Amino acid sequence: MNDDPVIILAIESSCDDTAASVISDGRILSNIVASQAIHAKYGGIVPEVASRMHQENINVVIEAALREAGIGLSQLNAIACTAGPGLLGSLTVGLSFAKAMALSLDIPFISVNHMRAHVLSHFIDDPKPSFPFLCLTVSGGHTQIVLVKSFNDMTILGQTLDDAAGEAFDKSGKILGLAYPAGPEINRLAALGKPVYSFPIPQIDGLDFSFSGLKTAILYFIRDEVKKDPDFIKKHLRDICASIQHTIVEILTRKILAAAKKYGIKEIGIAGGVAANSGLRSRLKELAAENKWNLYFPAMQYCTDNAGMIAIAGYYQYLTGEFSELDTAPFVRGME
Ligand code: KG4
Ligand code: ZN
Repeated sequence: MNDDPVIILAIESSCDDTAASVISDGRILSNIVASQAIHAKYGGIVPEVASRMHQENINVVIEAALREAGIGLSQLNAIACTAGPGLLGSLTVGLSFAKAMALSLDIPFISVNHMRAHVLSHFIDDPKPSFPFLCLTVSGGHTQIVLVKSFNDMTILGQTLDDAAGEAFDKSGKILGLAYPAGPEINRLAALGKPVYSFPIPQIDGLDFSFSGLKTAILYFIRDEVKKDPDFIKKHLRDICASIQHTIVEILTRKILAAAKKYGIKEIGIAGGVAANSGLRSRLKELAAENKWNLYFPAMQYCTDNAGMIAIAGYYQYLTGEFSELDTAPFVRGME
């Protein structure tokens, strides 16, 4: 029997972050992310620019991940990489690199689903949720409630019909003149204000979400108030941010509460960049106390897009021999 550790290099390039991580027997040895600040000046991600930046960054990021882990190419047992969902041009950069590495090193290639990896980020550090658990994945590109029965058995119970939760923060911030991505700044200002303005909570059937109505409601509200007082935003920014955050948190938490009740599950995990939001965290903690949930938040570096989560997903796929062909194509959406 071979006692050598299983060592995997993981690559993530689905959106605007170029990331690489090395994992040894399920333990993360390095987790490197190069973020693309360039998109801030456009007020959102420009796909063509993102893929060019991935091309510039990918070599350096992978070298840094291997160096920090103290791992040489000959020690790698597999290469894992995000195949989707994401931006096609961005995905293609990481995927081509990963496949070429696997081919030249003659080791397996493992194609990882980005959304499943967000869920599995809960298995990087302790405490880990036990199966079955519900995962609320909330980021700039995604809003999903997933029923997780095992490492490879996941069912989407609900998802957004339009904007993602992070997008709702970012687009609201844009209306207020805040820089992209506005989520962290709205969070900071919200903590200094009170949710005195009320915006409608959409009545969507089942466990799906919708955020586009909120964006429109904010747009009209601000337009009307600014007509009456041109300094309205400046004078009331903290309360406006608190009100926006309160509404987004209500939309999210009402659905996760409904899902937990419907499925009788008390193990609840939160993943994705919006998991950083302090309003969401404190409301979830209240609900956890009321409903006797066990709440799980991965460390922040594993919530925002990262390759550590691709590494842990790749590791479990390696253990079950879930390898992929070298003609695996990138894909824009889906959980498979
Ligand atoms: O997971 P992530 O880094 O990338 C995507 O896959 O999108 O998430 C980025 C999103 C952005 O929309 C950003 O505004 C939001 O997460 N975000 C936050 C906070 N930190 C990041 N939203 C609200 N409050 C925060 N503290
Ligand atoms: Zn993501």
